[in-house]
Amino acid sequence: MDLFRTKSVEAVRADADAGDGEAHGGTGRLRKRLSARHLVGFGIGIVIGTGIFTLTGVQAKQNAGPAVVVSFLVAGLVALLAALCYAELASSVPTAGSAYTYAYATAGEVVAWVIGWDLFLEFALGAAVVARGWSGYVGNLLDLPPSMFGETSTVNVGAAAVVLVLTAVAVLGIRESARVTGALVVVKVAVCVFVVVAGAWFVRGANLTPFVPPAEPAEGGSGLTRPVIEVVAGLDPVAFGVGGVLTAAAVVFFAYTGFEAVANLSEETRRPARDVPLGLLGTLGLATALYVGVAFVLVGMVAYGDIDEGAPIADAFDQVGLGWASSLVAIAAVAGLTSVILVDLITIGRIGFAMGRDGLLPQAVARVSPRTGVPARITLLFAVLVLALATFVPLGTLADLVSIGTLFAFLLVSVAVVVLRRTRPDLERPFRVPLSPGLPLVAALACLYLMLNLSIETWLRFLAWLALGMVVYAVYGYRHSRIRRAALAGSPTG
Ligand code: ALA
Repeated sequence: MDLFRTKSVEAVRADADAGDGEAHGGTGRLRKRLSARHLVGFGIGIVIGTGIFTLTGVQAKQNAGPAVVVSFLVAGLVALLAALCYAELASSVPTAGSAYTYAYATAGEVVAWVIGWDLFLEFALGAAVVARGWSGYVGNLLDLPPSMFGETSTVNVGAAAVVLVLTAVAVLGIRESARVTGALVVVKVAVCVFVVVAGAWFVRGANLTPFVPPAEPAEGGSGLTRPVIEVVAGLDPVAFGVGGVLTAAAVVFFAYTGFEAVANLSEETRRPARDVPLGLLGTLGLATALYVGVAFVLVGMVAYGDIDEGAPIADAFDQVGLGWASSLVAIAAVAGLTSVILVDLITIGRIGFAMGRDGLLPQAVARVSPRTGVPARITLLFAVLVLALATFVPLGTLADLVSIGTLFAFLLVSVAVVVLRRTRPDLERPFRVPLSPGLPLVAALACLYLMLNLSIETWLRFLAWLALGMVVYAVYGYRHSRIRRAALAGSPTG
C-alpha cells in the first residue's frame, strides 16, 4: 500500500546533508549554526511560559494542596521519558521534521502526514493562543483598552502586533532568533531564580502540612467537559489525595510542553549527536528544577486554601509584604510569553519545510531562503495563518487542544523508538534510551493516560482536526508525495 510507504533513514539523512541544489526536493539546505547552548535557549524559550505562573496556584488550591510540588515532579518525569525518546531519534536521525519524519521512517506516509498535521495544531494554534494571552496580559498590565487587547476584541491589535514583530525575527535567521530568544530566556530564568531564593525566606512549615490533603469529592465537569477517563472508567471526580495529585500532574504537564521543538532544530545543529540530547535533557532538567522550586516556595509561603488563582506568585509576595516583587513576575511572564510565540513560529517553519521537502506540501513554498538560510516562505505562510487566528478568533478555550496535540506526538515518538530498534537494529545511535523497550513503552502509556485526562470536547475537536487533515492529504499530499512519485517513476525512493 503506498499510503504506508516509508522513507528510509538513509534518505532522511541524505536530505538533511545534501548540498545546495542537490536532488533533495529542491528545497535547499538549512544552515548548521546551532550549539547545545542555543538549543537549551530555544528549549527554555518555548517551555517556560504561562504554565508555571498560572496553573500552579489553581492546582494547589483545587487538586493537590502543597503536594502540587509532587505533581510537577510527576509531570516532569513523564516529560523526561518522552525527552529521552526524542533524544535517541533526533541524535540518530537529525531532521527538521522531528516526529513527522520519525513517523515517515517507521509507520509510513499517511501516519507521518497525520503527525505533521497534528504538529501544526500544536505549534500554530499554540502560537495563536499564546499571542492572545500575551495581548490580554500586556493590556492589563499597561491598562490598554480591552476592545483592542482583550478576549472580547473584534480585532485583537496586541496579538497581531506581537505575531508580526516575532515573525520578522524568525525570518531574519536562526542566529538572530537565538539571540532574541536568549535575551528573553535570561530574564525569565533570572526571575524564577529570584522567586525561589527570595520566597525561600518566607516558607513556613505550617503551610506545608498536611502535605497531601485528604481526598474529597470534587465538582468536576459535566457533559462534554468531563475527562474521557472518568467516563470510560466510570470514576467520580476527586480532589486532593493521591488522585488529586495525579489530576494536577495531568494539568501542569502543559507547563513542560514545547521542549521537543529542540529536536526540530537538530538539522541546524553543528554536532547533533552530542548537542541535541544535551539540549533536550538540559531544557527539561532546568525547567523541572525551576518549576519544583517555584511551586515549593508558593505553597510554603501561603496556605494552599489562600492562594490567589489568577496571579498566585505575585499575590504570594504581596501577602508577605514584598509587593514590588510582583512587577518582576509580570516582566518574566511577558518575556516568557514572547519567547514561546517566537519559538513556536520557528518550529512550525521547520516542520512545514520538512513536509515540503517530501512533496506533501508545495515544494516551492518550503524553499530555504539562500540569503538567510531559513525556510522563510513557509514560516511567513504559517505566520499569516497564526496572525489571522490570533487577531480574529477568541481561542482561550482551545489551549487543551495544544496539549492533546503534543501528547499524541510524544506517544508516537515513544512507539517509533521501539519500532526502529526492531527494524533497524544496525542504526548508529549516539544516544540510546536506557531500558528499551520498557521505558519507551512506559512513556507511551503515560502520554496516553494524560491524554485520557483531557475532556471529551477536546478529543472531539482533535478528531475533527485530524479528519480535516485527511481531506487535505487526499487532495494534495498523496498526489504530490516525492517518494510516491519516485516509486511510480521506478527510481529509488527519497
Ligand atoms: N509550556 C508552555 C507554558 O507553560 C506552553 O506556557
